[in-house]
Amino acid sequence: MEGSLTARDRVGIQDFVLLDAYTSETAFMDNLRKRFNENLIYTYIGTLLVSVNPYKELGIYTKKQMDIYMGVNFFELPPHIFALADNVYRTMISETNNHFILISGESGAGKTEASKKVLQFYAVCCPSTRLLDNVRDRLLLSNPVLEAFGNAKTLKNDNSSRFGKYMDIQFDHQGAAVGGHILSYLLEKSRVVHQNHGERNFHIFYQLVEGGEDELLRWLGLERNCQKYRYLIQGECAKVSSINDKSDWKTVQKALTIIEFSEKDIEHLFAIIASVLHLGNVHFEASAHGYATLNSSAELLGIPSNILQEGLTHRKIEAKAEEVLSPFTAEHAKYARDALAKAIYGRTFTWLVNKINESLVNKDSTRKTVIGLLDIYGFEVFDVNSFEQFCINFCNEKLQQLFIQLTLKSEQEEYEMEGIEWEPVPYFNNKIICDLVEEKHRGIISILDEECLRPGEATDFTFLEKLEEKMCGHPHFVTHKLADQKTRKTLERGDFRLLHYAGEVTYSVVGKFHLISQVNCASDLSLTRLTSDRFDDVMVRHQVKYLGLMEHLRVRRAGFAYRRRYEIFLKRYKALCPDTWPHWKGTPAEGVQRLIKHLGYKPDEYKMGRTKIFIRHPRTLFATEDAFEICKHELGKAPATSDKRRLPFPEGVVMILIETCWRGLQARRERERRAWAVKVIKKFIKGFMNRNQPVSMDNSDYLAFVRQSYLTRLKDNLPKSVLDKTIWLTPPPIMQEVFHILINPLLLKPSQIYFQLQIKALTSDIFKGRKENYPQSVCQPFHCIYIMFVSLAWETYVISHSTQYSVPVIKYDRNGFRPRFRQLIFTQAAAYLVEEAKIKQRVNYSSLKGVSVSDLSDNFLILHVTCDDTKQKVGDCLLYLTRMHYTYTELLSFCSVRFDIQPGKEGFVDFKSSSESMVYRAKNGHLMVVSPHNPMHTT
Ligand SMILES: Nc1ncnc2c1ncn2[C@@H]1O[C@H](COP(=O)(O)OP(=O)(O)OP(=O)(O)O)[C@@H](O)[C@H]1O
Ligand SMILES: [Mg+2]
Repeated sequence: MEGSLTARDRVGIQDFVLLDAYTSETAFMDNLRKRFNENLIYTYIGTLLVSVNPYKELGIYTKKQMDIYMGVNFFELPPHIFALADNVYRTMISETNNHFILISGESGAGKTEASKKVLQFYAVCCPSTRLLDNVRDRLLLSNPVLEAFGNAKTLKNDNSSRFGKYMDIQFDHQGAAVGGHILSYLLEKSRVVHQNHGERNFHIFYQLVEGGEDELLRWLGLERNCQKYRYLIQGECAKVSSINDKSDWKTVQKALTIIEFSEKDIEHLFAIIASVLHLGNVHFEASAHGYATLNSSAELLGIPSNILQEGLTHRKIEAKAEEVLSPFTAEHAKYARDALAKAIYGRTFTWLVNKINESLVNKDSTRKTVIGLLDIYGFEVFDVNSFEQFCINFCNEKLQQLFIQLTLKSEQEEYEMEGIEWEPVPYFNNKIICDLVEEKHRGIISILDEECLRPGEATDFTFLEKLEEKMCGHPHFVTHKLADQKTRKTLERGDFRLLHYAGEVTYSVVGKFHLISQVNCASDLSLTRLTSDRFDDVMVRHQVKYLGLMEHLRVRRAGFAYRRRYEIFLKRYKALCPDTWPHWKGTPAEGVQRLIKHLGYKPDEYKMGRTKIFIRHPRTLFATEDAFEICKHELGKAPATSDKRRLPFPEGVVMILIETCWRGLQARRERERRAWAVKVIKKFIKGFMNRNQPVSMDNSDYLAFVRQSYLTRLKDNLPKSVLDKTIWLTPPPIMQEVFHILINPLLLKPSQIYFQLQIKALTSDIFKGRKENYPQSVCQPFHCIYIMFVSLAWETYVISHSTQYSVPVIKYDRNGFRPRFRQLIFTQAAAYLVEEAKIKQRVNYSSLKGVSVSDLSDNFLILHVTCDDTKQKVGDCLLYLTRMHYTYTELLSFCSVRFDIQPGKEGFVDFKSSSESMVYRAKNGHLMVVSPHNPMHTT
C-alpha cells in the first residue's frame, strides 16, 4: 500500500480499498481503465488481485521481475501476480498452514495463464535440488499434457480449458516443492462429437493427425488429413494459423516421457484417441425394416467388430434371467456411437489425470503444507443456461460466501485484538441463495435428486412443478407460473430464474438438467479474480458485476480503509511534526497521537487501537501523504527555512546524512552476518567436543552434519561388489549401528549364502514347470524370518527361541472365508498361527496330513490336519501368503509323513536335505530320509 500511495496520482489507485467513492461502479471502472491504458493490468482489492487480460506480451514475467517480488512486503511494490504468489508462499511457510489461490473469470480472461505464472514463480523461487527439480519439471510439464487433452479452440479463446482444474502443490518444511496432485472435473465431453462453427475438438486429435510420426499413423490406421475425420471438421476450422499442432505434438511427447509414461502407456493412449476418430467415421444405414445396420467397420482397437456392431445397433434389455436384444433405428445408433466416443474420451482423460498424479505423488509421509490453485469459470450467463451453468454459478455462489465469511471474520478478529468496537457492515449475505440450492430435503439439488429417483414418469416439467410447489414465495426464485405479469414476459414455460448475488440467471430445465454436481470449497484467503478484454467497457462492466467485485470492495472497506502499526506509521510520517522529528523519545503510540494532533485529524477520522492506528477515509491518508511528499523535498533542499526544527540540517549535510545512514546499514548487516557465523562455528566446535556423548542440544546439529556428510560420501564411493567388505567406507561411531543394519544382509557368510541357494534350488525342484507363478518368485530373496507384527509377549511366552521360520499370512476362516492377518511360525515341532500376542492355532507336524497348493498363479496353501486328533479342535487351514513357494519348501524340511504300518499302528518318515543321500532309523523311532531333494509334495 505504501507503494500504492507513492504512485497513486500517476497510475490511478493501486488498491481499490483506497478509492474514496468505493460504492461507485463508474469510479471503479475509471480506475481500471486508467491503469489499463498505462499497461498496468493488475489492481488490488486488499489481498484480492484484479487483472485485465492485455492480450500482448508486457515483459512483466521475467526472472528479474520474480527477483524483485521475492520476499518483499505485499504492499510495498505495485500489484502483481508474483506479489500474490510470494505472499501466499511466505505466509504458508511462516504459519505452516495450507493456502489456496482461486482464479476465476470468464473464458479468455487469462485464468490458465495466471495459474502458469504462479507455478513458474514457485519453480524459480523455491529451494531446489536435483531431486526436487524432477518434481518441478513434472509439475510444469503436466500443463501442456492436460491442455492438449482438455483444451480446445473456442470462439472466445484459442486455448480454452474445457474442464475445471484444482492443483495442489505440496511443500516440505523448508519450502521446497516436493509433490502435487491434480483434480479435474466437468470435462466438456460433448465437444468430442460436436463442435460449434469456428470451434475445434480437443487439441490432441489435431496434434496426432498433424504431428504423429508416419509409422505411428500407419499403425493406428490414420491418414494425415483432418478432413477425413467427421469428429474434427464440424466447426470447419481444423487448421488455425495461431495454433501449431506439429510443434505442440512434440512438446506433448517430450512432456509425456518426463512425466514417466511408459512406451506401452503412450501406445495405448494414442490407440484409444485414434479409435475415437475411427468411431466418428462409423455410419449407419437403415435396413428394409428401418433398423440400423453398420456399413463401415472401423478398426477399433481391442473390440471384435461383431460386438461393436451389436453394441451400437441394439439395445440389450435384461428381464430377470432373460436378455432381449432390440434393434435401434439408424438415428438411435448414431446417438449410441457418439455416447460411446464421449465415454471413451472421458475415461481416457480421467486415466491421464490419474497417471499424472502418480508421477507427482510424494511418497515421503512427513507433514506437508499445500498451496492449492483453482482455475474455475466465473459466473456464466448465456442465452440458454443449462445444468452446467447452474453448477458453475452455484460454485461461485459458495465461493462468494466463503470469501465474505473469511474477510469479515479476519476484520472482526483484528478489531477485537486492537480493542476497537466492531461496527456492523451492511453487505448482502448470499447464504439465502446457497440454501435455496443446497439445503437438505428442501433445496433445488435435493428436489432434483428426489425427482430422479422416484417411481413413475419423471420429466423436466414434473421437476419444474416440484420446484414451483416447494419454492413458491422464495425471494430469489421465480418461474413463468410464479412471476408477476411483467417478469412473466421474460420467461419461457420451461425456465426458472435464480436471483444470484451477482445478478439474475435464467435456467432452462428442458432436455439437459441432469444431476452431477460437486462443489469443492477450499479454505483460505488470497483470491485472484480475472476479468478480460481490450478494454471493452460493456464486457468489463459485466465481469465486474458477475465477479461481485463491488461487493468484495464493500466488505473490504468495512469500517476503516487503512491501518498500520504505530512504529511504521511514525517512521514514515515523523518528519511532519516538529515534536516527533528527528527522534521521538516516548512510545510509538504517543508519538502517533502527537503527530496526528499536529496534523489536525478529526476524532471521527481515526481510531487508536492497541498496536495500530486505524484511518477511516482514504482522503485523510492522502492528505497526510501529500504533506509528506512536500516535506521530503524540503528536507533535501538547503538551507533551512526560518523553522530550524522542521529543517534541521545545513546545505550538504543531507548528503552526508544519507551516506552515514547507508554505511551504518551496511555495517549492521555485516555485523549480523558475522554474529551468525560465530554462532555456527561455536556450535560446530561444541558438537565436535561432545560427539561421543548421547544426543543432546549440544551435539545434535553436529551429529546430523556427520551423518549427512557420511551418507553423501558413501553415495559417491559405493563398492563395485556388494560382497566386498573391505572397501566400504568406515562409518563414524554415530553411524555404526545403521551401517550394520544396512550392509549386514549383503555380508552373509558363505555358509549362509550356500544355505539360501540350497533352499532356492529345492524350491525350483518342487515348483519349476508345475506352478504358474513360480518364475515370479525366483527374484525374491530368501529370508528365514519375515515378522510383520512382533509382540514381546508372544516372543517370550511361546516360542521365543525355537522359531525357525516365520512369515506373515492371511488366514481365511473356514466359515464365511473372512480374511484374518496372522503370523505363521515354524518351530522344530509344530507350526503356529499367531495373532499379536496370542497363539490362534497350533499344528503339530505329526498331525499334518498333507499340504496342498494349486498349479495356477495364486499364492494359496492349505494345511491338512488329521481329523482324528482329538487335541486339534479345528480343521484344515486355508492360507494366503506372498512368499508361498519358500514357505512351502521350508515346511517340508520340518515335517514328518505319517503312514500306516498296519491298521491301527502308525509310523513316521522324516525328510531332511543335505548334500549326501542317506536312509536310517532316527533316535525318535522315525525313518530319516536325507537327500538333496525333498520328495514330499502333495497336491
Ligand atoms: N497475463 C497475460 N499476458 C499476456 N497475454 C495473456 C495474459 N493472460 C492471458 N493472455 C492471453 O489470453 C489468452 C487466453 O488466456 P487463458 O487461456 O489463460 O484464458 P482462460 O481464462 O483460462 O480461458 P478459459 O476459461 O477459456 O480456459 C492466452 O492464450 C493469452 O494469449
Ligand atoms: Mg483456461
